Amino acid sequence: MQKAIRGRALTYRDNPFTRSVRDCLHYEEDALLVMEAGQITGFGAADEMLPTLSPEVPITRYEDALICPGFIDCHVHYPQTEMIGAYGKQLIDWLNKYTFVTEQKFADKAYALATAEVFLKELLRAGTTTAGVFCTVHPQSVDAFFETTAKINMRTIAGKLLMDRQAPEALRDTAQSGYDDSKALMEKWHGAGRALYAVTPRFAPTSTEAQMELAGALWREYPGSYLQSHISENLSEIDWAMSLFPGRKSYADIYDHYGQLGPRAIYGHGVHFTEDDFRLFAETGTALAHCPTSNLFLGSGLFRLERAMTGTPSVRTGLATDLGGGTNFSQLVSMNEAYKTAQLNGFALNAHQAFYLATRGSAEALYLEDKIGSLGVGFEADVIVLDLKATPLLSYRTGHAESLEELLFVLMMLGDDRAVRATYVAGERVYERDVEIGGGNFSGF
Ligand code: GUN
Ligand code: ZN
Repeated sequence: MQKAIRGRALTYRDNPFTRSVRDCLHYEEDALLVMEAGQITGFGAADEMLPTLSPEVPITRYEDALICPGFIDCHVHYPQTEMIGAYGKQLIDWLNKYTFVTEQKFADKAYALATAEVFLKELLRAGTTTAGVFCTVHPQSVDAFFETTAKINMRTIAGKLLMDRQAPEALRDTAQSGYDDSKALMEKWHGAGRALYAVTPRFAPTSTEAQMELAGALWREYPGSYLQSHISENLSEIDWAMSLFPGRKSYADIYDHYGQLGPRAIYGHGVHFTEDDFRLFAETGTALAHCPTSNLFLGSGLFRLERAMTGTPSVRTGLATDLGGGTNFSQLVSMNEAYKTAQLNGFALNAHQAFYLATRGSAEALYLEDKIGSLGVGFEADVIVLDLKATPLLSYRTGHAESLEELLFVLMMLGDDRAVRATYVAGERVYERDVEIGGGNFSGF
């Protein structure tokens, strides 16, 4: 059944890091967006669209709001939801002390199902409609995740961690079992509804050469599938990776050697990337996920966003929370901290660039820009409604904004999950902040 929403709307057609905002931005002061069967079937100025619409189509009007494409979080760990904000130390200690303890609980499928639901509801409350998700080493953690996303027909990318060394016994697979289990999950989930499968070696230090070999092989067996991992997040991690793969020139060269770079491979971080690393990623079409709240929280360092996006050659880069290393589900907060991170590198990220990164930019990093990350006819109907008056301060401050750019900048500096009024996934309203639409504020679970 057709339905429509009406209000101020914004989307990007191209990349405002390399082209003028005028060439990229599509903004409508009063837009009508029509959805049917999971797709956007109409989008444009309301006064032009309304005469073409059958009078029976219900229209929800959103005042003091901004309709945009759902946010895309291209690197996040669902099992770490319960350990967000765990105090102390940098990456390796944090992994040992918290992460490797928490992830053991996901051997229990019921536990994984319960966490997946909490995680997905938090994503929707934050306005995130697609995510690149790390599960745990247990295949049932992947089943639990995709079974839950299937309930609301959400486009997600996820995979079973591959980890056959340098982790507690209970979290280790073997090169062969990791391959076999991942292959079975790939067969079951890749392309099932909106689910997409990612071969997921956690990072080079926790995989043997044999596992790295098989991970690259499995990814190549399934064209169109994904590969996700971590790279160059922390200086000790880089030293550790190099000591475990002594023949390799660089951290990026480890992944390259095992055939793990290319289109649809996406790596979290790249904080300490060299010029050679940026070039290798650019030339192979490999993407980076910039995770600013995590990089600041774990004291990892300052990602060089300007280099990644505007340097020659540039690297497809998306925005991500990396939760539980990251400290907030909201991509508005990621934008805020991406801005501050860039500032410390001498680059003032502007609001259009930030909103692009969280929507179309992340879609490009995932090679999904023809399906998600934009508003327009033929795109999947993943849409959010931001509330310009969500808090007394936002209301007061946005009332003083004199341009769209200022309004967006204020939203990303003051906004968070409170600023999300409604979230539509595949054309269905699955979250509404102020209205009971199912069991509480969610529908479909
Ligand atoms: N590197 C390897 N595993 C992880 C993880 O779970 N979180 C972060 N932030 N970095 C990692
Ligand atoms: Zn991560």
